[in-house]
Amino acid sequence: MFRTRITELLGIEYPIICGAMYPCSDPELVASVSEAGGIGIVQPLSFTYVHGYDLREALRYVKQMTKKPYGMNIIVEKSSRVYERRMYEAVDIALDEGCRFFITALGNPEWVVKKVKEREGIIFHDVTEKKWAEKDLSKGIDGLICVNNRAGGHAGTKTPAELIAELYDFGVPLICAGGIGNEFSFIEALNLGYDGIQMGTRFIATQECHEKDNYKKAIIDANERDIVLTERVTGVPLSVIRTPYVEHVGTRAGPIARFLLKNRWTKHWMRLWYTLYSVRKFKNMTQKGGSTKDYWQAGKSVAGIHSIEKAEDIIQKFVNAYLSQCECESCECKK
Ligand SMILES: Cc1cc2nc3c(=O)[nH]c(=O)nc-3n(C[C@H](O)[C@H](O)[C@H](O)COP(=O)(O)O)c2cc1C
Repeated sequence: MFRTRITELLGIEYPIICGAMYPCSDPELVASVSEAGGIGIVQPLSFTYVHGYDLREALRYVKQMTKKPYGMNIIVEKSSRVYERRMYEAVDIALDEGCRFFITALGNPEWVVKKVKEREGIIFHDVTEKKWAEKDLSKGIDGLICVNNRAGGHAGTKTPAELIAELYDFGVPLICAGGIGNEFSFIEALNLGYDGIQMGTRFIATQECHEKDNYKKAIIDANERDIVLTERVTGVPLSVIRTPYVEHVGTRAGPIARFLLKNRWTKHWMRLWYTLYSVRKFKNMTQKGGSTKDYWQAGKSVAGIHSIEKAEDIIQKFVNAYLSQCECESCECKK
């Protein structure tokens, strides 16, 4: 047993989430993390657009591989009608297939809350600071994914310690997302008071993740100084490994793009353009095996990642390390 608010709420064994990752989330990775006692999160666009599954079939495939719970990520940012319709459908399909845990990101999660609460599901939302948390919790969110300044994907600006200090008084479960690459940073996050952790980068360098070997090797070879934020992929700072290509094209959006991204009339169109561009770019990169003109997304957790492992072994290593030093009353360490 390893009890925190998150294991109780989600009915899982260990407070470890494999975060959604476009384009890295695939059914085998999601299922292996859930089967190992954590919880894997489906990224619906990655499953369908990158890995070529029909979403319902893919969720059934996950269920064949594990009977344990899994979750789904919905990026709720305003975008094209087509995208929004696909996301409505994704939530409906997931609910029909028995998924009851959703993680929303980048926008107003209200419509997801409405659909999911009707079916007694649980929703967490990504936040990077207190003012967003206040808004989202008023809409019925159950817990917060606290995205810090070390995260892969769209990083926050605050350290894990700063974020928990700001958010603790809300009294809801808090998940530390960012910077966790080994058992020591896992222990550190739980000792700071987080109820659980979400990892992305660590789970890319696994046997179950279908990313190409050169991407996994780049994660293993990188240290945290190699992680830079670029605005040139999605218009919002995104953590990537500094490669010669990234150095060549630079990391700042051009002056016109910056202007259009700030303007209230044009910013949604601009973000849509960036989204379509990055969706295509990452899809090509995954299918063509990667080239020197790649954006390899990763967080500063690369510092603690030194080998490709099985997801199950990573989870067991983290859990054993935590239990061997834990002195609380509620877990196996006392036995
Ligand atoms: C390659 C990559 C793709 C990601 N894609 C998404 C995504 O589609 N949706 C989302 O909410 N978060 C996304 N994230 C964020 C992760 O779910 C997770 O919060 C983050 O990776 C944690 O930081 P870490 O990489 O240091 O472990 C992505 C992260 C990475 C590394």
